[in-house]
Amino acid sequence: MRRVAVAGERPYEVVIGPGAQVELGLVLAGTARAAVVHAPPLAGEAGAAVETLQSAGVAAEAVVVPDGERAKTAEVAAALWEEFGRLGLTRSDAVVGLGGGAVTDLAGFVAATWMRGVRVVQVPTSLLGMVDAAVGGKTGINTGAGKNLVGAFHPPAAVLADTDVLADLPEREFRSGLAEVVKCGFIADGEILRLLEADPTGRRDTVELIERAVQVKAAAVGEDLYDTGRREFLNYGHTLGHAIERVEDFGWRHGEAVAVGLVFAAELAGQAGLLSGDDVARHRRLIEAMGLPTSYRGDWARLQAVMRVDKKARGASLRFVVLDGLGTPTILTDPDQAWLDAAWAAVRA
Ligand SMILES: NC(=O)c1ccc[n+]([C@@H]2O[C@H](COP(=O)([O-])OP(=O)(O)OC[C@H]3O[C@@H](n4cnc5c(N)ncnc54)[C@H](O)[C@@H]3O)[C@@H](O)[C@H]2O)c1
Repeated sequence: MRRVAVAGERPYEVVIGPGAQVELGLVLAGTARAAVVHAPPLAGEAGAAVETLQSAGVAAEAVVVPDGERAKTAEVAAALWEEFGRLGLTRSDAVVGLGGGAVTDLAGFVAATWMRGVRVVQVPTSLLGMVDAAVGGKTGINTGAGKNLVGAFHPPAAVLADTDVLADLPEREFRSGLAEVVKCGFIADGEILRLLEADPTGRRDTVELIERAVQVKAAAVGEDLYDTGRREFLNYGHTLGHAIERVEDFGWRHGEAVAVGLVFAAELAGQAGLLSGDDVARHRRLIEAMGLPTSYRGDWARLQAVMRVDKKARGASLRFVVLDGLGTPTILTDPDQAWLDAAWAAVRA
């Protein structure tokens, strides 16, 4: 089993590998009650988690929520609060969030608010959940006004990334998660790039790739839980990526939109004279080999308008994470319009 420590006020461990889920019994030993929150497709895994906990003496119950983004609503959160009341969950009990990023975001948020905060153990089952959503302590739900606008910072007590469950994850979801992995390679860990260049499916070295990506995220969030500094570098590729997701009304998977955003950010850094032509080409070649999109057909004026109101923009200025050489992220504020237009021309389908 691989273990990555996440520092902070409440440090915790991310455990990665086949069978990691059985550590639930260790992490929650001595806990009286636990609610295992999951969506219908993960009912089998949730049943196994309940059994593991019961063998450890924890009175555990599975609680079903809708699948995907439909879980991240105020109505579902309210239904969970009612359910926790019925189960008699107290401050010393725990919530387990078992599923993709939607379920871990919801379970984390409800755990943060129930009795002003009970422990949450995250058991991510999607690749995106393992390398991103379940690590770092950001939790939240969506509202009519937008995605993730209501939430809390609530670091988990532990994250158990059981790589056995990835066998059932649809290929498109796996590839989408790999976009966040390759992002970590570009901003911080060149070995990730070499592993993915050797096997662009990410299947051969999955455990090592997850461990390395989690190390990159852990280094950023350990120093910056509240997202005021280094954590911003994790948004590499996300300024255009978020805009594509919005314009496509979330019909694209997050990682697919980020993949185009990574190529765009590399082209922009090339225009700014920060990244060599070879490194820009390396972005495009690798992302393409991974089966992720590198181009996009869309309305440039509209994308720029959306990027200006991105929640990560400060005021009306446009901010991009770009690379000043591989592994060295920096911020480019209000780049020349000519550079933006040239980078767009390079990703326009
Ligand atoms: N909190 C954060 O820091 C953070 C970071 C990134 C993303 N997110 C959030 O994560 C969410 C996206 O997460 P996601 O990509 O995991 O999507 P998701 O949670 O919607 O899961 C995608 C689909 O895969 C299914 N699935 C998950 N694991 C499976 C498995 N092992 N086998 C079979 N099916 C499986 C799910 O049931 C769902 O149908 C978004 O809501 C996003 O806002 C949060």
